Formats: sequence, structure tokens, C-alpha cells
Amino acid sequence: MNGADAIKPIFEIDKLFVNYGHVEAVRGISISLMPGQIISVIGPNGAGKTSLLAAAMGLLPSAGDLRLDGESLAGVGVEERVERGLCLVPEKRELFGDMSVLDNLTLGAYSRRYPAAQFRRKLEQVYARFPRLAERRSQRSNTLSGGERQMLALGRALMAEPRVLLLDEPSLGLAPLIVAEILAIVRGLRDDGVSIVLVEQNALAALQSSDYGFVLETGEVALSGNSAELARDARVHATYLGGSTED
Ligand SMILES: Nc1ncnc2c1ncn2[C@@H]1O[C@H](COP(=O)(O)OP(=O)(O)O)[C@@H](O)[C@H]1O
Ligand SMILES: [Mg+2]
Repeated sequence: MNGADAIKPIFEIDKLFVNYGHVEAVRGISISLMPGQIISVIGPNGAGKTSLLAAAMGLLPSAGDLRLDGESLAGVGVEERVERGLCLVPEKRELFGDMSVLDNLTLGAYSRRYPAAQFRRKLEQVYARFPRLAERRSQRSNTLSGGERQMLALGRALMAEPRVLLLDEPSLGLAPLIVAEILAIVRGLRDDGVSIVLVEQNALAALQSSDYGFVLETGEVALSGNSAELARDARVHATYLGGSTED
């Protein structure tokens, strides 16, 4: 054995704080992501999940430290974070609706400045993972279904070859079968070596698709642990998984 001690986190969120004026959305959250893992971050609406990911990407000011490959991201802008391998798929997908699937994917590769051959190879990889996007490559993205839009948002992120992918509620607004399809794709990305922070209100689906989980409540980590154990935890069950509560 080489010793598990030698494996270092690929991404660390260290005592992060995010404020909107007097509203403390994130209050000292620390999360470590190991290479090749999916960690889920679950919690109710308003718990601070989106603020956490937006700050991690550098889209919001925050206090505390963020480290990618052990190196601080203090003072590192969004574009350089992308270049270093961090990528966010935002809650609202933020696609360019009037543009084609292909054009949206092309924009995802913008920061990488790929030579033409490498760009085509990357595009073919994304189309192989999402055959539906390949079929609809010339279609405007606002004509896609909800599931296809999420696939396009994921595909656009993959064009930048992220090593750490931050996913903000990929299941939001999707039918259960489509949610299962999207989460299978997310697990496939993990199996191909991408490390993933999966933010979800859909707690059960997220815990079933992750290695480790964090439960957020009002900007703090209320519970954390092995995902399978968290899914069995009575408190998680009562609050998030439809278990009965007394009040
Ligand atoms: N732009 C904003 N201005 C002021 N308050 C905000 C803003 N965005 C989020 N908040 C507040 O921050 C808290 C966390 O929100 P958010 O990060 O969106 O949580 P979640 O993604 O878990 O639903 C909530 O109390 C929310 O009302
Ligand atoms: Mg949110």
C-alpha cells in the first residue's frame, strides 16, 4: 500500500464566508474534495449552496481560503480558475438561447484556445457522451427540453476540460427519469477522473450518487459523512428524505 495519507485533496474550501450586506449566506464552511470523488452538498432552499459554489468559482467576494491542488486561489480571477481546471455549471444553466448547441459548446472551449484539431476532438468527445446534443447540434438551445439543456450546460463545461466540476442543482426542474439519466452521466464523469461537487436539493438522489456528503443549514455544515451513512441517518431522513417528523 502507498498509504491513503499520501492522497491530497484536489479542491479545498476552507472556512469560507459569504455576505450579502447583513445577510450571512455562508458562515465558515469547510469542505475537502478528494481526486476522483463526488461530494454532495445538500440542504434546503436558502441554505447557502449557490452562494458557496459562486464564491468557489470567484463570482462572489468571500472571506476564507480556497485551494486547488493545494494552491490558494486568493486573487485568482474566474477565467484563470477555469484555465486551472475549475468549472461551474450554474443553477440557471445560463445558455445562450438564440445560439445553436454547437455555438454554446464552442463558447465553453473559449478559455482553452484549443488548436482546431484539438477542438474537434474535444467536441467529438462531448458528442459521444451526449448523443442527443450531437443530433441537435444545429438547433437553437432554447428549443431543447429541460434535460437536454442540462446536458448542454454540462457539455459546455466539459469543453473546458475541468478537473473539478461544481454542479449547482443539475436535477432542478427535471422529471425523475431525466434526473436519473443526468446523475448517471455525472457518475460517469467521476469514473473518468473528474472530481465533482454536486449541490442538490434532491437529497436522496445526490447521496445515492456521491461518495461523501455535507448537509448545509443556514450557511453552516450541520452534518457530514459517508453518503451511504448519511442517507441512513435519522436526522437526514426526517428532514430531507420524506421521513415523518413530529412537528
Ligand atoms: N443576491 C443576493 N442578495 C441578497 N441575499 C441573497 C442573494 N442571493 C442569496 N441571498 C441570500 O443568501 C442566502 C443563501 O442563498 P443561496 O446561496 O441562494 O442558497 P441555496 O442555493 O441553498 O438556495 C439566502 O438567505 C438568500 O436569501
Ligand atoms: Mg441555489
